[in-house]
Amino acid sequence: MATGEATGARETVSADSIVILLCHDLEAMRACVALQKEVWNFSDADLIPLRMFVVADKIGGQIIAAFDGKEAVGFGLSIPGYRDGRSYLHSHMLAVRQTYRDAGLGRRIKLFQRDDALTRGYELIEWTFDPLEIKNAYLNIERLGAIARRYNINQYGITSSPLQGGLPTDRLVAEWWLKSKRVESILKGKKSQFTLVKSISIPTQIYEWKSAPATRQRAREVQDRTRDEFVKAFADGLAVLGYERHEKGNGKFLLGQWEER
Ligand SMILES: CC(C)(COP(=O)(O)OP(=O)(O)OC[C@H]1O[C@@H](n2cnc3c(N)ncnc32)[C@H](O)[C@@H]1OP(=O)(O)O)[C@@H](O)C(=O)NCCC(=O)NCCS
Repeated sequence: MATGEATGARETVSADSIVILLCHDLEAMRACVALQKEVWNFSDADLIPLRMFVVADKIGGQIIAAFDGKEAVGFGLSIPGYRDGRSYLHSHMLAVRQTYRDAGLGRRIKLFQRDDALTRGYELIEWTFDPLEIKNAYLNIERLGAIARRYNINQYGITSSPLQGGLPTDRLVAEWWLKSKRVESILKGKKSQFTLVKSISIPTQIYEWKSAPATRQRAREVQDRTRDEFVKAFADGLAVLGYERHEKGNGKFLLGQWEER
């Protein structure tokens, strides 16, 4: 049975066993809500409910799901936004089931999201991400070509997700300029070229420190230090343009001037 039949979804992209779809029907969206619960382990109060997925679909957002057979193994949720005279998409969630990670599926969902956005005339997709999440930062900046030049302190307050480890929900705003030279060349596998002005380091132990109450204070200190560094760098007109992963798992944000706009 084709996954499109199971979900009523219209568009498909397929490679190996996984099918990526733009979905418009309740069953597929229900599967995304269940996956959200599995990935974030949110309490019901923090969970984005089915009705919000439906609204996102109805008002011009995107619900993109990755199915392996009948199982939803990844999804992206975005909603339309408007700021400074421009319409854009705000991508609120991206999730891949644990056992399917690090095989390029997250990137594939984002590329599907980009293609769909371009066909609708959008040039910008934004999302926020936790700067302490080394893997996400690498994916966003280095593999997708997003930039960041805004920092939101404790955006959602303290949430129930164990991924957050009880820390303030500080977020960098990723701007994905879909048609920019930077994005086009990074998607072709080239390195971005810029003059490095500043770097901000994240130690790999951050995951361990966040996960236990006894070490959480150390995670908090890293967050406080990096928050100050980002806020100052952005006030000075710098943008995050690169991300380095080190052998030991540490991450480093690379900042410079973004010349394109
Ligand atoms: C973020 C998420 C969607 C990524 O999905 P994914 O399918 O694993 O992503 P991809 O495989 O496309 O890309 C991950 C990249 O990070 C790399 N990576 C893996 N572990 C890493 C680490 N500890 N540090 C740095 N990079 C890492 C992978 O090698 C891969 O890069 P590559 O394509 O160059 O090999 C998934 O990890 C997830 O669901 N996380 C929990 C929810 C979440 O945090 N969502 C995002 C915020 S809304």
